[in-house]
Amino acid sequence: MRLPAPLAVFLSIALLISCASQEPEETLFPKIPNVREDHHSYSNPEQVRVSRVELDLDVSFERKSLAGSATLLLKRQGAHADLVLDTRDLAIKTVETAGASGEFSPTEFTLGDSDPTLGAPLRIKLPADAERVRVHYATSPGASAVQWLGPAQTSGKKHPFLFTQSQAIHARSWIPIQDSPGVRVTYSATIRTPKELFAVMSAEMEAQQPSDAETPGEYHFQMPQPIPAYLIALAVGDLAFEAMSERTGVYAEPSVVERAAKEFEDTDDMMVAVEKLYGPYQWQRYDILVLPPSFPFGGMENPRLTFVTPTILAGDKSLVSLVAHELAHSWSGNLVTNATWRDFWLNEGFTVYLENRIQEAVFGRERAEMEAALEVQELRDEMKELQPRDQVLHVELKGRDPDEGFTLVPYVKGMLLLRAMEEAVGRDRFDSFLRGYFDRFAFQGVTTADFVQYLSEYLLSPNPELAEQVPVEDWILKPGLPPEAPMPVSSAFERVEALAHAWQGNKEALADVPNTQWTTQEWLRFLRSLPEEMDPERMKQLDDTFNLTASGNSEILHQWLLMSVKNGYEPAYPKVEEFLTSVGRRKFLKPLYTELAKTDEGRRRASAIYKKARPLYHPIASTTIDEILGVASE
Ligand code: BES
Ligand code: ZN
Repeated sequence: MRLPAPLAVFLSIALLISCASQEPEETLFPKIPNVREDHHSYSNPEQVRVSRVELDLDVSFERKSLAGSATLLLKRQGAHADLVLDTRDLAIKTVETAGASGEFSPTEFTLGDSDPTLGAPLRIKLPADAERVRVHYATSPGASAVQWLGPAQTSGKKHPFLFTQSQAIHARSWIPIQDSPGVRVTYSATIRTPKELFAVMSAEMEAQQPSDAETPGEYHFQMPQPIPAYLIALAVGDLAFEAMSERTGVYAEPSVVERAAKEFEDTDDMMVAVEKLYGPYQWQRYDILVLPPSFPFGGMENPRLTFVTPTILAGDKSLVSLVAHELAHSWSGNLVTNATWRDFWLNEGFTVYLENRIQEAVFGRERAEMEAALEVQELRDEMKELQPRDQVLHVELKGRDPDEGFTLVPYVKGMLLLRAMEEAVGRDRFDSFLRGYFDRFAFQGVTTADFVQYLSEYLLSPNPELAEQVPVEDWILKPGLPPEAPMPVSSAFERVEALAHAWQGNKEALADVPNTQWTTQEWLRFLRSLPEEMDPERMKQLDDTFNLTASGNSEILHQWLLMSVKNGYEPAYPKVEEFLTSVGRRKFLKPLYTELAKTDEGRRRASAIYKKARPLYHPIASTTIDEILGVASE
């Protein structure tokens, strides 16, 4: 239909005006820009968006490679744009497309230059009717997301093991995909494993033909909820399963699984606690996979299947706040996701806040406050070493590796901001606000500006006193902690600190320290309250009385070994070596190597240990240690 010219002009002006008025309204926080653009992905979801991924991969431990295909379902905004995917070190064999008829035929593609941080863009020509793309490819042995472990690196020592770690931007090293947290996909996977190995993924296991001594295995997985690429995960190894409740269980090597199921038996209670506060768990099952010790992180919140380090198996549940943390990501992170890595604090700060609430609900306020107080102390210590630009929540990461944003600032400063708001409006109001936030943004990516906009509407407007008490914009944009930042308090910690000081002043004998009932958290506070410098005689007294060098608790042992290196306490050195050659968790390795590297003698020791240990570490950890020791990476 043709409209008379003046009417057409009038209508287009009206349309323009109505579009303009849909621009975000006046915001209370004009200084917080709404940046949705992801500087860490080459992909073009505004033109062509991948909505589903179907993987079909063979696992080869001989070649250290995953090989097969990824079929991507597309949502196209126009008929012209190419599809751009993220890749890193992938060997692309062929690319095919299919239209409604379903027949695949080859199409042209180009792989761009590789950037050290971002990898290489894969640009694929799309015929006008293309609805699916199939990429045939293989991963390289050095794929940054995949760690291939030999039998010696497992507890069983008989079978190899493999696991992926896709966050932040490593998914592209094993799947050609739009690797941006703002793009969500559902996925399915067929994984073929070698004999005697078992496969698990961050998805529902639909069918399995377990491998035995004679036959290889074939596993089918389905993830029906849309998730960002960084949450796609796979592990293959000699795995056993033990149920903890109807909906929770543990996968681990057979020699570890029973111990782990006992350690994590409160997981269902934790789920009940969060559900009561913030709404139903959306992912059906919650299982935990205990990895071999070279896993570089404490935990990773892969949906339906959290990955954890075995170093939290203390035997007394004292380190399970890590499970509370990863479980909490089922709401903050996996359900409501940071839109870009700049907004990482929306994932981690909210999660540390939820973690703490879970710990309080399941283990009581005293323990939760001790854990929070330790976290705040660690933040204050770390902040002293950070440049101002890295002390802000809305951190600028353009042109940088998103891993540079991985500090305690998003975690603990983020948590403290939420705690400050909770304290200002009261728990009930804050909890219903958070619950509303999780409902409003479920299965979406959220920017920092989206969050403050929602905050203005649903918390600041109804509670005007909040804006006076909590300078939200300063929290988000300014370095450091505002002077009125909340401070978790623990009377148990005050007692422990007093004892540490009394012993220092020779006013208390160690034998009288009532340590037998101390929790892990009190031990950590006690050790951290001692002076930086202590002579070997004092160190020996501590060790003789408390047997610290023999501690079976990874956090206490780590703290003690760090003090031992600082003070040249020789009797602990064999243990330092044993620890560094058996554990690959970066949080433990980094401070120990850093401390060793401060003296010539220490640096010599560190290099000798590292020579043995490096092959055991994940690339994420060895890259960090290479920098500390000045080893040129290969
Ligand atoms: N999602 C993170 C781990 C992560 C973040 C991996 C960014 C790669 C890039 C996970 O939830 C986490 O925070 N793990 C912590 C433990 C937690 C209790 C603070 C870790 O591994 O140290
Ligand atoms: Zn986390």
